[in-house]
Amino acid sequence: MRKSKVIAVAGKGGTGKTAIAALLIHEIIRQEEDVCILAVDADADSNLPEVLGISYDKTVGDIRETLLEDKQRDVTLDIRAQFEGRIAEIIEEEDFYDLLVMGRPEGPGCYCPVNHIMRMILDTLTENYDYTIIDCEAGLEHLSRRTTKDVDVMLVVLDTTQKSIRTALRLQQIAEEIDVDVKRMMFIANKIPEGDETSVIAEAKRQGIGIEAIIPFDPLIPDYDLKGNPISDLPHDSPSVVGVKAVVARIV
Ligand SMILES: Nc1ncnc2c1ncn2[C@@H]1O[C@H](COP(=O)(O)OP(=O)(O)OP(=O)(O)O)[C@@H](O)[C@H]1O
Ligand SMILES: [Mg+2]
Repeated sequence: MRKSKVIAVAGKGGTGKTAIAALLIHEIIRQEEDVCILAVDADADSNLPEVLGISYDKTVGDIRETLLEDKQRDVTLDIRAQFEGRIAEIIEEEDFYDLLVMGRPEGPGCYCPVNHIMRMILDTLTENYDYTIIDCEAGLEHLSRRTTKDVDVMLVVLDTTQKSIRTALRLQQIAEEIDVDVKRMMFIANKIPEGDETSVIAEAKRQGIGIEAIIPFDPLIPDYDLKGNPISDLPHDSPSVVGVKAVVARIV
């Protein structure tokens, strides 16, 4: 039996969601033997594959589009069977984790039963893994369209900006309004310069956000970004890896 724990990483654009999702995947792999993770890039502007150093071919959005076209041609088409088969083809398999790229969200003229079937299949898929780690878009509204499953932990990433605090407050509110049950929210301050920890925690607290973890500014992350190096190559003692290790200790 797999643990089937769902961890979503959300927050304002540019706060470091993708970097943290990638670091999280590698840290869990380091800590747990024989673990099996599903990494989901739920950002329409996908960049988790790049940060993980993986290339991918097709997205769930691509499958949806071809399925809708095929269904128009043949109304008897078994959407469920077709989707199940095609999703297996687009999952990128790595050691200890698989990657699924969601791609473009459903458009306005969308055929709802197709989305419903897709959600059901994606939910079933997460049951085959110990952890599903979702790199979210900045908003949360899409989450209830992507999954019907509960989120065990939502990591909300902030940086040193007021804007990111405001987004975190809004996410807290949205999480209560959407259909998906978010069991636990954990606020993480990322890219924090040394010495600024206390003031960042105090400012967030003043506005009603309790920061539970700090991930320091790590010059190697932008450096790796620039060079296109995968984040898995970061030295294990680099500040961001050490910071994410503390997060993992609290959530798994
Ligand atoms: N701990 C860190 N230290 C230094 N730089 C960081 C850190 N975390 C992320 N970054 C840098 O911040 C930038 C944004 O990171 P990232 O792409 O992970 O954010 P994001 O929230 O996923 O953005 P988007 O909303 O665009 O998807 C990148 O240039 C990355 O290199
Ligand atoms: Mg991102």
